[in-house]
Amino acid sequence: MILELDEVAVSYGGVHAVRGVSLGLREGALHALVGPNGSGKTTLINAVSRLTHLSGGTITFDGADVSGLRPHQVYRRGLARTFQGIRLVEDLTVRENVALGFEGRTPEARWFRRGASGAALSAADEALDRLGIAGVAAERPGELPYGVQRRVEIARALAGDPRVLLLDEPVAGMGAAERVEIGETLRQLRADGMTLLLVEHDLAFVLGLADQLFVLDFGTLLASGDPHETAALPAVRTAFLGPEERRRDRSA
Ligand SMILES: Nc1ncnc2c1ncn2[C@@H]1O[C@H](COP(=O)(O)OP(=O)(O)OP(=O)(O)O)[C@@H](O)[C@H]1O
Ligand SMILES: [Mg+2]
Repeated sequence: MILELDEVAVSYGGVHAVRGVSLGLREGALHALVGPNGSGKTTLINAVSRLTHLSGGTITFDGADVSGLRPHQVYRRGLARTFQGIRLVEDLTVRENVALGFEGRTPEARWFRRGASGAALSAADEALDRLGIAGVAAERPGELPYGVQRRVEIARALAGDPRVLLLDEPVAGMGAAERVEIGETLRQLRADGMTLLLVEHDLAFVLGLADQLFVLDFGTLLASGDPHETAALPAVRTAFLGPEERRRDRSA
């Protein structure tokens, strides 16, 4: 396992956002993490990328305990993520935004002194190419359609040449055709040897894509395993019903 979570917990005051989650990511596989609204998916990604504290448990990446590291430290080791909300710098071009993903891997704050390095810009061009958006390199992100902005986010993470990529709902708000295209991109990344964790709302979207499924519910790991088998479990089906149906289901 390239990434292992052992009894990971995150609490915010009295809110137990994530409780005792243990799971592992297999190198070169595409994993999906699904769960209803507020089940702790983003919190789990935040914990792994070290953007939030751990209330308990350990995170091991490539054999080393990274539980106490800072976000830039895990990033430099090769663990990248994208955000549920788009976070691009409006004053920079798409190419420069993506180049930041490369610069983040190096310790010097070179960027702030003389702009992106040649190496960073060529890493950016390669990442933009992989996402099929080389044509918008010179544009400002704010002028682009939402789906393209989401691709820029993924490209930025790729520019750092990560070994593990965590994607927080990358197809949220996209139409069916765009979703299929992103699915193809993720398949290609897997074929290139990358380890992926795809956080997603839509169970149907991940079923044809993921090698392994993790289901979160109320901050705990409800089930994991083969995507189709796991999705068919009664407890998983119940978790994906709306609150109304769920109440009825429980009282039945
Ligand atoms: N910084 C925070 N402070 C307090 N509570 C938080 C914080 N972040 C998350 N929570 C709470 O933790 C729980 C899990 O939230 P989280 O955003 O991880 O869920 P999610 O599965 O990503 O949901 P969604 O599908 O809506 O993105 C929720 O009850 C949320 O309100
Ligand atoms: Mg979320």
